Amino acid sequence: MTQPMEAKRLNFFMDKINGNFKKKDILSLDQFDPKSLSKLFRTTDTIIRKLKRKKRLTSLSGKIIALLFFEPSSRTFGSFASAVKRLGGQTIEVQDVGRNSSVAKGESLSDTIKVFESYSDAIVIRHPEKGSAKIAAQAATTVPVINAGDGTGEHPTQAILDLYTIYQKFKRLDNLTGLIAGDLLNGRTVHSLIKGLSLYKKNALYLLSPKSLGLPTELMNNLAKKIRLVEIENETDMPTNLHFWYWTRVQKERFKNLQEYKKVKNRFIIAPELVVKKGNQHMIIMHPLPRVGEIDPRVDDDERAVYLKLQVPNGVYTRMALLTLILSRL
Ligand code: NCD
Repeated sequence: MTQPMEAKRLNFFMDKINGNFKKKDILSLDQFDPKSLSKLFRTTDTIIRKLKRKKRLTSLSGKIIALLFFEPSSRTFGSFASAVKRLGGQTIEVQDVGRNSSVAKGESLSDTIKVFESYSDAIVIRHPEKGSAKIAAQAATTVPVINAGDGTGEHPTQAILDLYTIYQKFKRLDNLTGLIAGDLLNGRTVHSLIKGLSLYKKNALYLLSPKSLGLPTELMNNLAKKIRLVEIENETDMPTNLHFWYWTRVQKERFKNLQEYKKVKNRFIIAPELVVKKGNQHMIIMHPLPRVGEIDPRVDDDERAVYLKLQVPNGVYTRMALLTLILSRL
């Protein structure tokens, strides 16, 4: 029998990172500050350099990461699995665990987590209910929990890769003006990304969505204190000097009424004409993927389109950096 594992913390979950990732749960962008993100990005840069030089990375050798996905995912799931394996670690992969289970009551999710923490060194969880990652983090007393998307809540590792991509392109994360378009109500990637951009000075965001899909009021009120947010409802109101466009999918699975979904889906689409009319030379076009019609594939060849070329690979590199900082060292 192995020794019982050391407790990961005293009483806290949702610890601030404060430059130290060791054994921390990663639940929300609220835990981050610019210094911690810089550290994560420096580690990401190092990993990319080592991979280019064909160095074998072993920071997760001997470690097992449980990937518990209660909601369909191919991208984030694959990206985490790839990150673990590229670092010499192993995964326990469980997809579609207990869909529709009543996690709000705490019971079944907590039990699952308590079981899997004996099997693994960290748990990555995706779940359809907002707040579920926090419940999981409270249940896991020995291993860190990483939120890979909690319903309409947050998706911190997506925001990290998005921020890294913006940083790679502009060499800074302040003094930027961007556009975030689509389903801002239900889009968890957007919630985390705006929180991330609000950590830096002099950023501004144009928020383009149908009125019914605007940012949740509470989030809007909190964020508006920290970052300039301008809500618009029409492409004609887009300024032409933006640094990035971040487009998102209308989140069909969050709609109770399919008629309502049909009314708003594909209200905003990027086609080459919009890029010509409202774009500029220096900007980048981003999307967390999957897209379901909101970016015309003809835009893919535009060198400003980075969703496939940069965001996807950066997802693996930043997750490699995050896991390394939480569980090991390079
Ligand atoms: C996003 C998600 O799951 O929130 N996908 C992803 O993780 N890359 C975005 C989406 O599903 O629209």
